[in-house]
Amino acid sequence: MSNDPATLESATDILIIGSGAAGLTLALRSADFARVTVLSKGDLQEGATFYAQGGIAAVLDDADSVDSHVEDTLIAGVGLCHRHIVEHMVAHSAEAVSWLVGQGVPFTTKSQHESTSGNEKQQDSSQLGSLHLTQEGGHSHRRIIHATDATGKAVFETLRKRAEDHPNIHLLEGCTAVDLVTQMAENGSQRVCVGVYVLNQETRSVEVIRARFVALATGGASKAYLYTTNPDGASGDGIAMAWRAGCRVANMEFNQFHPTCLYHPHAKSFLITEALRGEGAHLELPNGDRFMSRFDDRGELAPRDIVARAIDHEMKRLGCDCVYLNITHKPAEFIREHFPTIYQRCLKFGIDITQERIPVVPAAHYTCGGVMIDERGETDILNLYAIGETSFSGLHGANRMASNSLLECFVVAFGAAESIRSKLTDTPLVETIAAWDESRVTDSDDEVLVSHDWDEIRRFMWDFVGIVRSTKRLQRANSRIGLIREEVRDYYIKHKVTNDNLELRNLALVSELIIKCALQRKESRGLHFTLDHPDTDAEAVDTILVP
Ligand code: FAD
Ligand code: SIN
Repeated sequence: MSNDPATLESATDILIIGSGAAGLTLALRSADFARVTVLSKGDLQEGATFYAQGGIAAVLDDADSVDSHVEDTLIAGVGLCHRHIVEHMVAHSAEAVSWLVGQGVPFTTKSQHESTSGNEKQQDSSQLGSLHLTQEGGHSHRRIIHATDATGKAVFETLRKRAEDHPNIHLLEGCTAVDLVTQMAENGSQRVCVGVYVLNQETRSVEVIRARFVALATGGASKAYLYTTNPDGASGDGIAMAWRAGCRVANMEFNQFHPTCLYHPHAKSFLITEALRGEGAHLELPNGDRFMSRFDDRGELAPRDIVARAIDHEMKRLGCDCVYLNITHKPAEFIREHFPTIYQRCLKFGIDITQERIPVVPAAHYTCGGVMIDERGETDILNLYAIGETSFSGLHGANRMASNSLLECFVVAFGAAESIRSKLTDTPLVETIAAWDESRVTDSDDEVLVSHDWDEIRRFMWDFVGIVRSTKRLQRANSRIGLIREEVRDYYIKHKVTNDNLELRNLALVSELIIKCALQRKESRGLHFTLDHPDTDAEAVDTILVP
């Protein structure tokens, strides 16, 4: 393996764009039968995966069942989940956890948990029975496996190490995929993906990598919003590239807002895991009153759309800047042991969560829509796969249930690996792809145009396409994004590509797709709530955009 982009090769069997849970899993599942190259536009760890806190939803307990996990997911998704996909993901959840344990992910065990909680023992029921299960919103059982409150870091570091050690996996940092290269299949029936143009940030040149298979594992697009739990690179690149190449995109209006992001002037994008509420934390108004039971019988553990909307409502009603999460009634040792990352981070900002309430606000967190795929990650374009948050499989419906996202990354990556294996021998590499043409562009000379458009998009998306929408706000956003898209197009065709202007180009396109989907939905459902159509239709229909 090498992290040196100077060694960027010109051809590979499988080119995976993205080094999060989805990308690394596909790499590891394919590397025994194919040569794999994995790209990351930043450091390998700079995806959402590394920051995941709560855990991975899986049916591991005797008292739980696949049916129950399926039902909970369907309820949280407000009628829009595709039942067969939900059943497929949940049915493979134990297999996914078993594989992760086999890779060496250090999940928290029951004995580690019991040493500080004083809780009753959970029943051991299977070979995975030693893992501790925590609780999150929408789940009717404890079914979240985790590594304290830093599950994503534990998963990422384990998979990364495995990938680094594998002779068939080549990991490349600082390489931004610009666009997919497609051509017509020989029989003229379908487009085929044959490679990718990639910006090598070290040499500042765009190179071409030919591949027999390409997988988009580029994560979500929550950076479209001013306030987000996501890392900087969440600009929806995979969705934008797939759309430009001709793939359908669905349900982009369902951007999930996580109810509890730390509210502090110096804390950028720091999530306070839902598992805190799962372990008993209360949501409170500034005066100490609890309020969630006024909105939903499930209280703090209602699905996220409901909790985020309730907080938004209370903040607007009272004119306050935040609400509070209170776990001080739990033993200090338990809090420090089980939420070490949150404890330390809050302490850095002067908040001792064993003694004080945590100020929190909702923030954009997860893109439920994306590139349309089947359960094996296959897209509308032959030999192009999409896996993880960049995709739309039908699992999440109108609102993703907590900890189902990482599960989807693993299960779809397993399916994609099998699909690729079955097609490998019949899929040759193309011999040539035209080189990138820079003959008519100049160096970017006015970066303020890029940064201004970036900020403007994120501000109006937050104000007009946020937790509560209206037709007037969406129309205003639509006319703004139209103008910005023109400016971005003009800038793009005249200047050399940089990571920043590529991200802006993608963010502008994906924001437009979100707005278009939101305008098409004339009802309120799950994460899409509009004042002009507050009711939910009897029939649940996906919003499908065709390029
Ligand atoms: P990511 O992990 O986001 O990785 C994207 C990769 O793509 C990165 O390597 C990035 O560099 C690369 N990339 C992007 N664009 C390009 C490009 N143009 N060229 C090259 N590379 C590119 N879900 C759960 O199920 N449980 C949780 O507990 C949980 N907690 C979360 C906590 C936080 C703070 C956040 C932000 C999300 C959380 N989620 C959780 C959601 C979950 O973490 C993500 O949905 C999941 O990790 C996405 O994985 P991924 O592999 O699809 O993408
Ligand atoms: C969290 O830990 O609250 C995030 C879980 C998720 O997004 O699934």
